[in-house]
Order: sequence, then C-alpha cells, then structure tokens
Amino acid sequence: MRAKLVIANWKMNADKAMLAKLLAGYVAAIKPPVKAVACPPAPYLAQAQQQLEGSAIALGAQNVSQFEKGAYTGEISLSMLQDLGCEYVILGHSERRSLFGEQDTDIAEKFVATIAAGLTPVLCVGETREQRQAGETDSVVSSQLDAVVNVAGIKSFEKAVVAYEPVWAIGTGDTATPEQAQQVHKLLREKLAESDADIAQRVPLLYGGSVNAENAEELFAMTDIDGGLVGGASLDASAFAAICAAAN
Ligand code: PGA
Repeated sequence: MRAKLVIANWKMNADKAMLAKLLAGYVAAIKPPVKAVACPPAPYLAQAQQQLEGSAIALGAQNVSQFEKGAYTGEISLSMLQDLGCEYVILGHSERRSLFGEQDTDIAEKFVATIAAGLTPVLCVGETREQRQAGETDSVVSSQLDAVVNVAGIKSFEKAVVAYEPVWAIGTGDTATPEQAQQVHKLLREKLAESDADIAQRVPLLYGGSVNAENAEELFAMTDIDGGLVGGASLDASAFAAICAAAN
C-alpha cells in the first residue's frame, strides 16, 4: 500500500499574517498518517519553515531553477530551498508551462537537478480541454512523462511524485470524475512500468484540479490515486484538513 500524500499549492497567494494563520490551522488540524506538504510562495518559505518546525507537515516550493547559482536574476536555486528546509518542489505545473513558457526540456533539467539535490520533485502533467476533446489525453500525458523519464532515467522516480492535473479542472470547479482520473493514473503507472514495474508500483500519483473537502474521498478511493495536489481549497485550513482526513 502506498501512503497517501496531500500537497497544498498556494500559488501566488499569501501575506505574512495570512501565512501565520493558515499554517497554524494546518498544524492544529492535520493528523498523521497522511503526509501533508505546504508550498507557500517563495518569499514566505523562511517564515513557514519556522512555523512548521516540529510539525508533521513538510515544506515545499512551487518552482526552482535548474541552474546551480550565478547570474540568473530572479531565480531561486535548489541550495536555497534546501537551506530553507524544503523537501519537495512542484515542477512543470500547467501555469508554469502555459504562462511562463516552460518546456518539457526545462522541466526535465529541473527534475534531474532536484533529484541530485536530494529533494523530491512533484512532476505535473495534464491535458487541456481541447486536447481531451480531440482524444489526445493519453498521448499528451505520456509525452510529458516520457520527456522526463528519458532524460532523468526511471531510477530517479524512486524518489519522485507525479501529479496528474487536467488543465481544464484547475481552478474551474470542474473536477475530473474519479473514473476519468483513475483512467489516466492507470495509464501513467503502466507507462512507468514499461521501464520498471517495481518503481511504477511505488511512485505516488496525485490528482489535482478542483479537489475539495466534498470530492476528495471518492477520488482518493481509486486504486491509482495516492493523494492530491490542492490549489484553491488549500487556502482554507479546515477545507485542507478535511481533504487530508479523507486521505486517512
Ligand atoms: P485547484 O488547483 O485545486 O485550485 O484546481 C490545483 C493546482 O493548480 O495545483
């Protein structure tokens, strides 16, 4: 049995006061054995690290540079994230792909660098509504996954998480049905199994896209759904705690 994992992606939302209140709510309400991860915006990672110390909640970042250090204005390195106690990094979120032009090749480089630094990458894949309507879901997510497996190697998935986030479900309230999500998760596990069946069984596959306190339980009940990547609902401590409870 794979342990459930639930990751909060706050995106570009927070200020100091909101962070303090939200994390206090997380710490008070989220109970093991579910593993929860909070990914606040980068400027608040230090504050979050302090507040989460000694709690069951791990810290993650929403993005990272593939470069080690130097003349990369505005970028954040893996060693900085390590310094701030981050254990996870979200990579290739659809907003990074569509709004900031991140390509599969960038994401693969970031993935390799993240593994080398000893952090856990959370690789996001997912199709747009147009791609789903055109029957391209399987080929889109397969090629997004392959782009990383081919560069990083299947062994690096020993310590990675994959998140299926259909773009049409993100922030829209239009959640994939448990069956729709399970179908893609199964495909992703089969794709990984082509390279290594054992690793494929162990990689946590998260679903993301309008997960909330009401729909989490039926999503997490599916065989290949090992938890969630939660945006909007993670900005409400009681909703996020309820999602974590559904994973338990
Ligand atoms: P959502 O976002 O839960 O608000 O749909 C999920 C995500 O973008 O990771």
